[in-house]
Amino acid sequence: MNSTWSITGFAITLLCATSVFAAPSPQSVQYSLGEELYLNPGRGGCTQCHGKAGNFPVMPLYPKIGGQSELYLYNQMIDYREKRRQNGLYVPMEVAMQPFSDEEIKAMSVYLAQQNAF
Ligand code: HEC
Repeated sequence: MNSTWSITGFAITLLCATSVFAAPSPQSVQYSLGEELYLNPGRGGCTQCHGKAGNFPVMPLYPKIGGQSELYLYNQMIDYREKRRQNGLYVPMEVAMQPFSDEEIKAMSVYLAQQNAF
């Protein structure tokens, strides 16, 4: 009887432990959302100008954004959306950022910051 209980207890503990490890981390949830938003042609259309993973710009003048720091990317995108960054070629970016919430911009920053810079 004791051993049955301890085996059951052990199984339950194992189950709980596995489900904790199997749960996706908040960081990976943000990464997946960011990837989905970045690749979605219907909203910001990011890849049309910045290319796959942010590092294949369609014009030499367009910046490479993959692998930049997460906070930097986040701040730039918020500033474009809030019309606080109005330098150089800002117009397409001001338009592109309008449909995104703070959380969505955060998610795209997480995704882009984890791409290889080259
Ligand atoms: C029509 C082309 C175009 C589209 C679409 C576009 N971008 Fe941009 N992006 C640019 C250009 C051009 C710049 C540089 C603007 C400037 O001089 O400030 C830029 C700048 C940026 C920067 C700042 C880079 C830096 O080094 O400061 C980020 C971050 C960025 N884009 C992310 C995105 C994301 C994410 C999307 C999709 C939601 C997107 N862009 C859609 C053309 C585009």
